Amino acid sequence: MSKKKRKIIVARHAGFCSGVKNAVKTAFDSAKQQDKNKPLYSYGELIHNESVNRELSKRGVTVIDDLATANDSAVIIRSHGVAKTVYQTISQNNNQLIDATCVFVKRVHQIVEQRSAEGYQIVIIGDAKHPEVQGISGWCDKAIIINSLAEAKAIKATKPLCVVAQTTLNAQLYDEITCYLSEHYDDAIFYKTICSATQLRQDEARQIAQKVDYMIVIGGKNSSNTKKLYQISKEICKKAQLIQDFQQIDVKLLRNYGNIGIVAGASTPDWIIDEVIRKLKFEGEVVINGK
Ligand code: F3S
Repeated sequence: MSKKKRKIIVARHAGFCSGVKNAVKTAFDSAKQQDKNKPLYSYGELIHNESVNRELSKRGVTVIDDLATANDSAVIIRSHGVAKTVYQTISQNNNQLIDATCVFVKRVHQIVEQRSAEGYQIVIIGDAKHPEVQGISGWCDKAIIINSLAEAKAIKATKPLCVVAQTTLNAQLYDEITCYLSEHYDDAIFYKTICSATQLRQDEARQIAQKVDYMIVIGGKNSSNTKKLYQISKEICKKAQLIQDFQQIDVKLLRNYGNIGIVAGASTPDWIIDEVIRKLKFEGEVVINGK
């Protein structure tokens, strides 16, 4: 394969989404302004990116998973959001609450809280183990959480359904499930709460994967939206690889392939994407698509 002809197509919608950008800025700003005698905590890792979390830790932001640890301190709620009871728990212990919940996640909280109070059975399409979904389910009466068409078919509800989605849900899965539910529940209401940043990323991954021979997906191992980009990429492209940073690129292996596509999850900082591009450029590749 001639080096000159090979191209790298970088997704336009790669890197921090608005929610993550806001959470990261909030955390760094809080670390700067924080009273040195008052501990500053992040309830759970702020984002799914080890380098950013390491930087925050150096600046005094400590990750906690148990709120019993937090007394007379400041606690950051990350973009995934939390259950309503968590707000009460944080406030009870004389803590300052710094809320970095993404506005799009907040909207889902408001929908399920209101519809649940109106008597709807809330159905969340998403991963029951994901903190965002656990947070959403904490704003309504017992939600039904499903993540497949088979689980949708197994729903037995006596109340009208109100269906929402994890913001990073695969749009095709949402369509498949809601198509079935709308045919079987006349009075069901649906909110396609998939975040547009997620949708754009997934659509772009699909388009790029069709044009290249090798897809590189950059993002955290635990990032739900990154894993979905990887899943989409490997379904379409001959070969796809999920990496955390440029060090995991095997340049020798890549020489066996033609054009390369690069997509990145919403928690991936621009500088990590740039490092990957730089490493490939070094090999004489041509970068297209804005970056
Ligand atoms: Fe928010 Fe969408 Fe990002 S829901 S955290 S802007 S992926």
